[in-house]
Amino acid sequence: MLDAALAYARKDQPNALEELKAFLRIPSISTLPAHAGDVRAAAEFLATKLQSIGLESVRLIETDGHPLVYAEHLHAPGKPTLLLYSHYDVQPPDPLSEWLSAPFEPEERNGNLYARGAVDDKGQLWMQVKALESLLASGSLPVNVRVLMEGEEEVGGEGIARYLKEHAEDLACDAALVCDTELFAPDLPTLCVGLRGMIYTEIEVHGARTDLHSGMYGGAAPNPFVALAHIIARLKDENGRILIPGLLDNIEAPSSAELATWRSLPFDEKRYLETEVGSTELVGEPGYSVLERTWARPTLDVHGMPGGFTGAGAKTVIPSRALAKISLRLVAGMNTKDTFQRLQEYVATIVPPGVTVETKLIHAGEPVLIDTQNSFIQAAIDAMRQVYGRDTVFVRGGGSIPVVGDFARHLHVPAVLMGFGLPDDNLHAPNEKFCIANFYRGTESIIRFLVNCAA
Ligand code: BES
Ligand code: MN
Ligand code: MN
Repeated sequence: MLDAALAYARKDQPNALEELKAFLRIPSISTLPAHAGDVRAAAEFLATKLQSIGLESVRLIETDGHPLVYAEHLHAPGKPTLLLYSHYDVQPPDPLSEWLSAPFEPEERNGNLYARGAVDDKGQLWMQVKALESLLASGSLPVNVRVLMEGEEEVGGEGIARYLKEHAEDLACDAALVCDTELFAPDLPTLCVGLRGMIYTEIEVHGARTDLHSGMYGGAAPNPFVALAHIIARLKDENGRILIPGLLDNIEAPSSAELATWRSLPFDEKRYLETEVGSTELVGEPGYSVLERTWARPTLDVHGMPGGFTGAGAKTVIPSRALAKISLRLVAGMNTKDTFQRLQEYVATIVPPGVTVETKLIHAGEPVLIDTQNSFIQAAIDAMRQVYGRDTVFVRGGGSIPVVGDFARHLHVPAVLMGFGLPDDNLHAPNEKFCIANFYRGTESIIRFLVNCAA
C-alpha cells in the first residue's frame, strides 16, 4: 500500500499543483465581511474534493462564523484514529502594490508557488488531502481518519473551539495532525512543540464629543491620539519588557535541556536580521536570545491605529476618537483570562486627563506545549527521516493556532505539529510563497506518517 501510494502521489504531482492553484484562486479572507461568500466557496471546493477521493460523511458544519469542513473514513478496525486539521482561510493580501504577482493568481517562480495562502495554510491543507487521496487510490487508509478543517483560524477560531467543546464525542480520536507550521531550515525535518497563545484587543480612546478644528481648540481640547500614544508608551519599556504589573510573574521558562537544543539549531542572527527582518537592528529583552524572545517570552504589538485623518494632504482636526489594535502573545504559565484582565486594569490606571478609555477583547487563544513522549510523535519523526534522511529537530513557534490547545483540553489527545513552510515564506505578508518541493515532500511525509501510525 505504501509504495503504491507514494507512486500515486509522485505521478500526480503536476495535477496536485494545478488543483492547489485553483483552491488558491478563491480569496477566502476570513476577516473581511465582503469575502464571506468566498470563504464559503473555498469550504465547498474542499468538501467536493474530500467527497470525490472517497471520504465519507462529508459535510459543512455551520458555526456563528465561517463553516467547518468535516469528513471521515473509519474502516481500519483496531488501528488508531487520526484527526487531520488545517485551515482554509487566509489573511488579507494588502499592501497589494508590493506583490510581484497578484495574490489570488498563483504564479510559479524559482521553484516556489506565490499566492496568498500558498503556505498558510491552503498549500499545507492540500498536502493532507493529497496524502489521503494517494492512500485511498492505492487500497484504503491504514488508520481511521477524521478531517476537520476550519475557515476562521486567522480570526481566532471561536467556531471550532465551541464545536470541539460541545461535540467532543463526535470527534473521538487518538491524536491530531496539524499541518500549519514550518521547517526550521530548508531540508531540516522539524516538529513544532510549542506555540504562543494570544489576546487580540482594541483600545479605544474618546475625547471631545465631536471632531474639532485644531486651531480653534488645539491646546485646550484633549487629543485622543496623543493620549493613546501615552498609553501605548507605558505598556512596554524601551528594552521590550512588558510593564503590565504581574504579567511576567508566572512564566514557565524552558528547561535547560530545551534551551541547549535551541542553541544547537542552525540559527544565524545576522542572516535573520538582514534577510528576514530587514531593519537596522533587532530589539527585545536583553538576556534572551532571539529564539527565546520569539518562542518563550510574551510580547505586545500594535497592529494599527485607525481613526482621525489619514487621507492624502492635510486636514487640521482633533479627532474625537482614536483606536489601537494591540495583541499580546502568551507563553506557558500565562492564560488569556488573567492576561486580559491585567491589561484592562493597568490601562485604566494610566489614562491621561480629558479622555475615557475602553479596552475590548477581540479574540483569545491559550499557549500550548506539546508532549513529545508518545508514539505519534515517533511516527512523525520516522516519516520525516524516511523522506529527508535526517533526524528531526524540536522547535517552538512564536505564532498561535488557537485550536491546538483545545485538542488536549476537549479531546484529550496529543497533537503532532508537522509543517513544511520555510522561514522566508512571507506568511501574512506580500509575496507569500510555498516551496513546491516542500509541498511534495510534505505530502509524502504525511503518507508515511499515517502508515507509521498503523504499525
Ligand atoms: N500558521 C500560523 C501560525 C504559525 C506560524 C505557527 C508559524 C507557527 C509558525 C497561523 O495561521 C497564524 O497566523 N495564526 C495567527 C492566529 C491568531 C490570529 C489567533 C497568528 O499567530 O497571528
Ligand atoms: Mn496558519
Ligand atoms: Mn496565519
